[in-house]
Amino acid sequence: MTSWQPGGVLLGADYNPEQWPEATLVEDVALMQQAGFTFATVGVFSWALWEPTPGDYKFERLQSILDTLHKAGIRVDLATGTASAPPWLARLYPDAMPVTRDGLRLSHGSRQTWCPSNPDFGERSLALVKELATRFGDHSAVRMWHVGNEFGCHNLMCFCDISADDFRGWLKERYSTLDALNHAWGTTFWSQRYSDWADVIPPRTTTAIPNPGAELDWRRFCSDASLRQYLAERDLLRSITPDIPITTNFMVGHAFDGLDYHQWAPHQDVISNDHYLGSHLGQPEIELALSADIIRGLAGGNPWVLMEHSTSAVNWQTVNLAKAPGQMLRDSLSHVARGADTVAFFQWRASQSGAEKYHSALVPHAGKDSRVWREVCELGKVLGKISEVEGSRTQSRVALVHNWDSLWTTDGDSTPSEHHRYMTEVSRWYAACWRAGLTVQGVAPGNSLDGFDVIIVPGLHVVTDAEIANITNAVEAGAHAVITYFSGTVDELDHIRLGGYPGGFADLLGVHFDEFAPLLPGKTAALRSASELVQLSSNASGSIWTERGRADDGTEVLAAYADGPSQGSPAMTRRSRGNGSAWYVSTSPDDASIDSLLAALSHDSGVSPTVRGLPEGVDAVRRVGEQASYLFVLNHTDQEVAVPVIGHDLITGTESTDGSPLLVLAGGVAVLREGSTS
Ligand code: GAL
Repeated sequence: MTSWQPGGVLLGADYNPEQWPEATLVEDVALMQQAGFTFATVGVFSWALWEPTPGDYKFERLQSILDTLHKAGIRVDLATGTASAPPWLARLYPDAMPVTRDGLRLSHGSRQTWCPSNPDFGERSLALVKELATRFGDHSAVRMWHVGNEFGCHNLMCFCDISADDFRGWLKERYSTLDALNHAWGTTFWSQRYSDWADVIPPRTTTAIPNPGAELDWRRFCSDASLRQYLAERDLLRSITPDIPITTNFMVGHAFDGLDYHQWAPHQDVISNDHYLGSHLGQPEIELALSADIIRGLAGGNPWVLMEHSTSAVNWQTVNLAKAPGQMLRDSLSHVARGADTVAFFQWRASQSGAEKYHSALVPHAGKDSRVWREVCELGKVLGKISEVEGSRTQSRVALVHNWDSLWTTDGDSTPSEHHRYMTEVSRWYAACWRAGLTVQGVAPGNSLDGFDVIIVPGLHVVTDAEIANITNAVEAGAHAVITYFSGTVDELDHIRLGGYPGGFADLLGVHFDEFAPLLPGKTAALRSASELVQLSSNASGSIWTERGRADDGTEVLAAYADGPSQGSPAMTRRSRGNGSAWYVSTSPDDASIDSLLAALSHDSGVSPTVRGLPEGVDAVRRVGEQASYLFVLNHTDQEVAVPVIGHDLITGTESTDGSPLLVLAGGVAVLREGSTS
């Protein structure tokens, strides 16, 4: 990975000056300088302007934009513009328009209306990329390439005949023979056996439950089909401009689950992410933190780029909440605490027309005389003051093991309960870590777990033998793992691991469950403590899921079901294994019970919170650099808090000492330099 060393923590945004008269550019640059704005993503949706008619490129405006930004010292992340094709593409290549699962061919008129398997789209988009890279690859403003935009956002799946053919090719590569495909998809069932490749189609709308193996492979294929377009653009750019780092913006968060970013991450020079708060979430700051911690995991613990978030409201939710005063700064620094070294937004200037005219921006419709603009300038100043944190790494001893296969299958059809949702379970365990003041990092099940003392494995449904061995080895070596229900149940073909649940993890955990017994919505099963180790309250309970079974000899039962369909069976267990321990949870416990279990597990592992005695609702995260370490303290409450930490606040310039704790205003943030690490 070519690293992105921007020389400070940058403030930036998508910049779309083409929406405005040319003269606005000059005013924009003056405003950018006032705000301390130093990073602009240019041209994300400019293809129709750059190539107004096929093969006729018009780059004069882009040239002047790049020249002007460069003179102002603004680094440009130049988009390849291929996310949205011009309307003429639909006229010349009607087959390039995506087809829905129901067989409806979509029209242009929005954005990202192209089929990822369409060769004409591939050819026209690469022609544009070549032209752009050849003309602007040596422009001094261009510091990063931004391939496409949010791959899969609107055109993740196309069910057309070209895609069907492409899918067959992908399957042939994966399985070689039809026999292997038939085995993988379990086609003896329901008379689905294929005798000719030509009969294999994408999972289009059908009568009853579609074949789950076909669904899972389809999800994998769709991720790979978009990745192929990314790689084609990346390889072309790399051949022309080998020294410019290349990225595409991921969308790790509540709004998107379409791409397997574990497959994508190794192909990025810089990992970047777009994150928008969900107005439906009770504590969106926790979901933001989860997204950032997964992204840092994808970046291998290295700093990354926050490519987009919003200064205030978005335009695409049911109710688009405006951010509270101070929230934009706190959100931004939550990302920085978790490794972002660039804080960028969609978009620089709020549009006057078009689908996103009610989306917030750095320069709102009201102009400079506005709360948002004043807060943008404040953010620019703060990022300037904390610039020395650039390059430092967020410290975490807790791994959250997750994968997209488990997400797709758990949330797919025909599981024991559709009320068990993968990310909900992941988020509940993540939130418990957040409440406990533990900083977490996302990890793929097969990746190294070195350096992590606590390993959280919520509902890891699809897992390979090698991945089970990886987690087992980490436990043997001294880590403490908690694995929760539905984990280990199937292999990578989505075939049940026979012999009882939790399948591949049963041996590590020393448990044997022979039946799932989920609960109806609103129903709970009472839990009672069965060991001193985990103290549960008298009204502790589990919801969504229970399991019937037993613990093996040598496995301690920590809690059991006191009633419900699995009465008497273990709900929480612990087993020592090698130098570590393996804990199992066969239900979705209430928050307090998860907290108790996590406290016992942390105690076993010796992992302590980043800051002890942190007030509720306050988040503390540490980044460690070569010269110093930095403690970010984020107060998400509406009360001023006193935090027992020591250091020099880079934002206010004040010192907090043993005798005088750090005071953080309601909704405020402090970034403390804690002293030398050398
Ligand atoms: C992203 C996209 C931007 C803008 C933004 C609005 O999905 O990349 O172009 O649409 O959302 O929140």
